[in-house]
Amino acid sequence: MAVITAPEKVALLRRSGQIAAAALAKVTSAVRPGISTAELNSLAETEIREAGGRPSFLGYEGYPASLCTSINNEVVHGIPSAGRRLKAGDIIGLDIGVDYQGLFSDHAVTVAVGKTSPDNQRLIDDTTEALRLGLAAVAPGATVGDIGAAVEGYLRPKHYGIVTQLTGHGLGYTVHEAPAIPNVGRPGTGQKLQVGMVLAIEPMVALGQPDVVTAADGWTVLTADGRPAAHMEHTIIVTPTGYDIITQP
Ligand code: MF3
Ligand code: CO
Repeated sequence: MAVITAPEKVALLRRSGQIAAAALAKVTSAVRPGISTAELNSLAETEIREAGGRPSFLGYEGYPASLCTSINNEVVHGIPSAGRRLKAGDIIGLDIGVDYQGLFSDHAVTVAVGKTSPDNQRLIDDTTEALRLGLAAVAPGATVGDIGAAVEGYLRPKHYGIVTQLTGHGLGYTVHEAPAIPNVGRPGTGQKLQVGMVLAIEPMVALGQPDVVTAADGWTVLTADGRPAAHMEHTIIVTPTGYDIITQP
């Protein structure tokens, strides 16, 4: 678990997050019907490298790309491919990771390709709000369970499927570190947060049931019932007064 307090390390981490945010914004702005997920991946890789970063997903446990592209019923970890083109009405999760001089950030959004269905749009909006509430639970002395409770407390009454087979996580000096940050929980339980902890908070939310399966490619995580899912992720650092979002311009 990385606890980063040295100002020069925090500065590098912030730069890593800026690179991730800028690259993801560029990729998001390129989303349109007809573009392939391989093209989005190339764009992500170019943006990261031109900013002086390294795509941290590329080669991580054998992952073959710089970006994860997860369309509709794909929850996370979709592999970009030249044959996969976006269609109007799709929703796509775009997940990017940056290593800048040894400091790691992780950032994801789900967006609609053109206009999508009201249900899909509501899913995206509510997942965005769930992330916002999860972030708002972060402060020194709060717990991992407080984050999960905030996310779950918003989504449960709306009858979403909250994916629990995957979680958010610590990071900082590698792609994934302890602790796991589940998207469900009870207030006051689990590890206490402390100043300098770096966390990726990432609700994964389905319109149907929460159960997920892994595709034959070994990476793509799909909803078992085939219904759409959304994913939103920020990297944050715990500060004396709460938290700062690392993955922003
Ligand atoms: N953001 C993803 C996660 O937290 C990281 C993708 S893992 C990789 O699980 F293998 F694709 F790099
Ligand atoms: Co992550």
